[in-house]
Amino acid sequence: MSNSNEASSSKMEEDVPPQDMTSKDYYADSYAHFGIHEEMLKDSVRTGSYRAAIMNNGHLFKGKTVLDVGCGTGILSMFAAKAGASHVVGIDMSNIIDQAQKIIEANGFKDSITLVKGKLEEADLPIKEFDIIISEWMGYFLLYESMLDTVLVARDKYLKPGGLIFPDNATMYIAAIEDQDYKDEKINFWDNVYGFDYSCIKDIALREPLVDTVDLKAVVTDPCVLKHIDLLTVKKEDLAFTAPFTLTATRTDCTYDAHAFLAWFDIQFQCTHKKVNFSTGPHAQYTHWKQTVFYTPQTVTLTEGDKISGQLTCSPNERNNRDLDITISYSTNDEANEVTMNYKMCVFFLVILYSPVFLLPFSSFVNRASPLFLMTPRPSLPFLSMLTANVRS
Ligand SMILES: C[S@@+](CC[C@H](N)C(=O)[O-])C[C@H]1O[C@@H](n2cnc3c(N)ncnc32)[C@H](O)[C@@H]1O
Repeated sequence: MSNSNEASSSKMEEDVPPQDMTSKDYYADSYAHFGIHEEMLKDSVRTGSYRAAIMNNGHLFKGKTVLDVGCGTGILSMFAAKAGASHVVGIDMSNIIDQAQKIIEANGFKDSITLVKGKLEEADLPIKEFDIIISEWMGYFLLYESMLDTVLVARDKYLKPGGLIFPDNATMYIAAIEDQDYKDEKINFWDNVYGFDYSCIKDIALREPLVDTVDLKAVVTDPCVLKHIDLLTVKKEDLAFTAPFTLTATRTDCTYDAHAFLAWFDIQFQCTHKKVNFSTGPHAQYTHWKQTVFYTPQTVTLTEGDKISGQLTCSPNERNNRDLDITISYSTNDEANEVTMNYKMCVFFLVILYSPVFLLPFSSFVNRASPLFLMTPRPSLPFLSMLTANVRS
């Protein structure tokens, strides 16, 4: 195992010192800028949960080899080293790993953590079998632009039989919400723009899920589990799936309307002695993943006890497997007329303005309270995906 001043490099794009990087470099290497890591590190639900899962379970880490897939600034590697791992290998394809190398040295982990720069799929790691894999791989809607495929490659290539994965389980949920005001602002707006009919854009806008925080009061049905993922056993093919759901209207007012479906996920570290879980749902503390809103073409009128039944299909887009094609079909109270809506979670150009990297130059004259400043995308997406998303503050 080598511990040089630079993270050892497998296959890597041209290295540019951080002070010389331009927007072109950040476009190619979305994780190179510290801002994206700042936002992830400051997500205390996320980072605190990993810290609790690792550091409160020293008996699982003591004397064990640990692989940190997508180590970023090295935070999870340092938690594992502090928890007693015999050696940690952190790998990351982004130039942020050069900062990670300085960070582990500054914190006295030079001998217990080895960093490798490169793509996990192409790397030649200094240890060939690990007791534990740790990784923060989750994307919007859990699977959008997520690195789960990479973690599965790492599991199949490097995890010892009986080894552990942190986290080891993820569960996706769906519910229906009342969201008239924001639907008017974002979707119905296109019906009448300064007196003109822009409704062709309304149809496109409807098909783009919106990443947003939703007030628990807006949820008008009980939630339903869409998909459970056990990281020890799941296969890449399982990540394209169709899941049925039935939602029961819970609000006791007479009749009310639902305007959208809402999805979120929970993360579990089930192998831990002191169980650690966190949720990205509307009932839970804010995380940078927020929730994902899928507006329905028509409102769904409900009274308490009504059922919305349907299915959600999710698969990578054929032309760009970073994008997700999501179809939701549903009907109310077993009515024959089923509605089917196709959504696409995809990259789109305008939100480049919302990325932390591109906001930085503006930040001196954008008021902190302004929606533009607050409209940061989820950070754990590669840069192209920073261009993503209907992300609202
Ligand atoms: C969500 S960040 C997590 C960073 C860090 N582990 C943390 O928790 O703060 C994911 C990291 O994985 C890296 N990554 C994504 N795909 C990768 C791959 N195929 N091989 C190596 N690193 C990868 C990215 O560059 C990014 O730094």
